[in-house]
Amino acid sequence: MQRLYRKRIVLGVGGGIAAYKSAELVRRLRDQGAEVRVVMTRGGREFITPLTLQALSGHPVHLDLLDPEAEAAMGHIELAKWADLVLIAPATADLMARLAQGVADDLLTTLVLATDAAVALAPAMNQAMWRDPATQANAQLLESRGLRLFGPAAGSQACGDVGPGRMLEADELAQRAADCFQRQSLSGKHVLITAGPTQENIDPVRYITNHSSGKMGFALAEAAVEAGAKVTLITGPVHLPTPDRVSRIDVVSARDMLAACEAAMPCDLLIASAAVADYRPEVVAQHKLKKDPTTGDGLLLQLVRNPDVLATLTSRADRPFSVGFAAETENLLGYAARKLKDKNLDLIVANDVANPTIGFNSEENAITIIDRELQASSFAQTSKGKIARQLVAFIAERLNRA
Ligand code: CTP
Repeated sequence: MQRLYRKRIVLGVGGGIAAYKSAELVRRLRDQGAEVRVVMTRGGREFITPLTLQALSGHPVHLDLLDPEAEAAMGHIELAKWADLVLIAPATADLMARLAQGVADDLLTTLVLATDAAVALAPAMNQAMWRDPATQANAQLLESRGLRLFGPAAGSQACGDVGPGRMLEADELAQRAADCFQRQSLSGKHVLITAGPTQENIDPVRYITNHSSGKMGFALAEAAVEAGAKVTLITGPVHLPTPDRVSRIDVVSARDMLAACEAAMPCDLLIASAAVADYRPEVVAQHKLKKDPTTGDGLLLQLVRNPDVLATLTSRADRPFSVGFAAETENLLGYAARKLKDKNLDLIVANDVANPTIGFNSEENAITIIDRELQASSFAQTSKGKIARQLVAFIAERLNRA
């Protein structure tokens, strides 16, 4: 399916090294069926030639505000009206600052002021420039005015630094552009997501936990926000930044997680991706446990069952549409189907944590979703971000049908 079929996209190319990716982006947008017109800033032209983008887009590139020939062909106001989406990639720190101030001293900034179309920016800059409070304030201001920010991603940068500021890859940007045209499938919904592991204290310095990184739950929170939901993310201890526009509540133990979820209710949709510890030590020692010569080499810990967060919430009178996860190492679909029934779920997402390339702590995932009719739908292995968006789209479709 061409997700951008006949959509008109003005691609603004700013002056950053990531401009080399814009050539690929034109291809990806056109692959999805979009018509693309390119506008370049003076800086953009230092990094990639207009001829390249003209050849790839199939149209002359728009360069200057005061070029009579270009204005005669398609004037800047006409171009602003023509666009369904203005996508600026790369968006440099300087360009963001000018947009935040409403400056209109070149074709691209003028066009942004003149258009009624959605405007999206793919920031690309050195990590220190991205982190700078001025850039952060500009990013917030632009978002508060309804401009969308795609990225940036974190990773190694052209300048040798490592950190946030890399422009998203062309494929990802084309997908995000397509998402702009989708009806907001979760708008007006409150979505509660549990994520990460829980920690169950043994004594003041030791605890029981598991390998969950929280990445899947955080990716789901981000995807749900993109789909228009109000998201509450209740997470065990993880090392992940809070996605934009998500209210995050940090908890430690399973009992804390349950209390936080109950306080956050009601919700329309519950997605329980947390790997909640099933057991906790019966007593938490007040002081650090010392090796005890009378017990020899062993230590016996008495564990008791933790509450089941998900099952507790699905047994309430205001039970939301409920989605559970089944992380298994064997008999994946059998166990998943049993949990769907036992925990009174609408959908269960099964993933095979015995496979080290997916599941716990990995960057990728592959999942199978089972519904109450025991119909299974599978999504092939890909990044957790992509799986999250596919999963949210699937859940939203079922929720809106229910
Ligand atoms: N879950 C929960 N609270 C618990 C245990 C599990 O909310 N105390 C939720 C998980 O977030 C997940 C689902 O229940 O959505 C299944 O979790 P899993 O650990 O796979 O299943 P368990 O019920 O713990 O079963 P078992 O350990 O026997 O596999």
